[in-house]
Amino acid sequence: MTRNHTLTPWRVEDSADLYGIHSWGSGYFDVNEAGEVVICPKGPSGPRVPIPEIIAGIRERGYELPCLLRVENILDSQIAKLHESFRKAIKSLGYKGSYRGVFPIKVNQQQQVVEEIAQFGSRYHHGFEVGSKGELIAAVSLLHDREACLVCNGYKDGEFIDLGLQAQRLGLNVLFVLEMPGELEVILERARVLGMRPKLGVRCKLSTKASGHWAESGGERSVFGLTPSQIVDVVDKLKEIGMLDCLRLLHYHLGSQISNIRDIRLGAMEGVRFYVGLVQEGAPMGYLDLGGGLAVDYDGSHTNYFTSRNYTVDEYTADIVEAIQSTLDEEGIAHPHIVTESGRATVAYYSMLLVNILDVSRLEEKHLPDELPDDTPEPVRNLREVLSTLSPRNLQECYNDAIYYRDEVRQLFATGSVNLRQRCLAERFFWNIFMKLAEEKEKLKTVPRDLQDIDSHLADIYYGNFSIFQSLPDSWAIDQLFPVMPVHRLQEYPSRKGVISDITCDSDGQIDHFIDQQGIKRTLELHELRDGEEYYLGIFLVGAYQETLGDLHNLMGDNNVVSVRIEDDGSYEVVREQQGDTVADVLSYVEYEPRRIMEDLRSVAERAVREGRITPSQRFSFLQTYEDGLRGYTYFES
Ligand SMILES: Cc1ncc(COP(=O)(O)O)c(C=O)c1O
Repeated sequence: MTRNHTLTPWRVEDSADLYGIHSWGSGYFDVNEAGEVVICPKGPSGPRVPIPEIIAGIRERGYELPCLLRVENILDSQIAKLHESFRKAIKSLGYKGSYRGVFPIKVNQQQQVVEEIAQFGSRYHHGFEVGSKGELIAAVSLLHDREACLVCNGYKDGEFIDLGLQAQRLGLNVLFVLEMPGELEVILERARVLGMRPKLGVRCKLSTKASGHWAESGGERSVFGLTPSQIVDVVDKLKEIGMLDCLRLLHYHLGSQISNIRDIRLGAMEGVRFYVGLVQEGAPMGYLDLGGGLAVDYDGSHTNYFTSRNYTVDEYTADIVEAIQSTLDEEGIAHPHIVTESGRATVAYYSMLLVNILDVSRLEEKHLPDELPDDTPEPVRNLREVLSTLSPRNLQECYNDAIYYRDEVRQLFATGSVNLRQRCLAERFFWNIFMKLAEEKEKLKTVPRDLQDIDSHLADIYYGNFSIFQSLPDSWAIDQLFPVMPVHRLQEYPSRKGVISDITCDSDGQIDHFIDQQGIKRTLELHELRDGEEYYLGIFLVGAYQETLGDLHNLMGDNNVVSVRIEDDGSYEVVREQQGDTVADVLSYVEYEPRRIMEDLRSVAERAVREGRITPSQRFSFLQTYEDGLRGYTYFES
């Protein structure tokens, strides 16, 4: 905590600083005077809508939390920001080609999302990148712009290629990117059968590697793409059959969430050399596709930490255009259209998960007896001794002793030498020692390593109505950090420190790492729950990758989803809504048939009636309860 709230009253600005909203929010989020998080899709001077107002609206419309809220205008703004930034760089540097962005559908395949991207991207000829037949069909059904690119990555069988060629026949700008050498034969064969000339691209393996989680997507040993020698083979083959004019695009992808601008620049410098080589071989080319990688500053630190980025979008676009242009001008080669496949940066900001807190479990300072019973075992007495002698001068020693005696008591309990009450007493002493250690360590200039994390052991557990495995899979799988904060009561000092547990019965279903300007913190500052009042948290920047990677752990299904558009007068309109999965839905995903379940339950209940265990009217009520249960939301319903 940066300031002492007891000396001066806590202000909303303090909350804004504490949760870093102005650092990670990219101007889309702020805190109002009433202590609520507001959404400002056009920046701080545009319209602002408080999230609690939207939550109330969602609930009035009959949707329960957890709810995924999408704000259409933020998506619109993100697409515009990228295009305007490239436009500015292109204009100021005098680049002759134009920018053609594509959205990689795998980053968020939900129909509403893809539809909205097609809609908002149309004014910029924004296209799609697809990596499977399903994604291709989805893209073709929504893309009507003949100037936009439809980049076909991924491994392609004959059917995939037919789907692409038929779309080309319709007038779409379909580009088949060779991910492996064998694909060329299949494409040429299908094109021959359909009597068409395909537009081809090659994905090259760069030697440049970006740092971070996704480093393996790039580099010479990446699984995707062609080596320089395989690229030359492709060129020779196309020359041999008189189809080199079909080669139009060079593609590479260094990885997602590239935090360091240096890697982006180095990648572009190496990639453009491949492009030059292909033009020098006589291919017409025309498109240079740099893949994804534009990072999101999840922690707001503006550094090259893996959850951040040390550059702005303007620096990203200027570096790319400049790196490409300088090499091409040196070689006297015409400027191609620049394609990027930004997924994360396009959609992350526009979705947030809104969660209500169901309960809190906290370690209470329990009363300790003045006198110990005569039969109190030695290690329990020792714990009391540790507590009474604890001072700022012996914190490390007390920490070690507390753990030692606690473990000894546990062992004696396991062998029957310590009874339940004695163990309970030992635990009380132990946790009182830990609480005192946490208090005293604040007085030290240098905190011993073992004590640095002590707050996280003492943290309250806030039970949130959601599933990490369904809604934030990257938080569980790769320790991705997302900004999390209360969306109201921000004028109040958050006096508690907590971690957030979901409602799956899995110990991994917990958020216990949080963004912090100084790195990562293990607990989040939260407010005391108030009787009869809801407490809402927002988990932000979740629009990329989370929805489709989510799974059905504990049979928690898709959340309710509501899309809003914020109007210039500060009102909002619910433009799309999608009911989350019912219990029957999720059961059917794992091969149950809800109708069959009901039939089985009817006969089970009938048998119970026959055997006199329930009455016919109790059977009726039993079946009604189960039918309602199947129709219900998979999350906690109020
Ligand atoms: C080929 C390709 N293009 C684009 C992307 C999207 O990357 P990002 O979300 O970082 O923009 C990916 C994802 O890793 C990818 O594999």
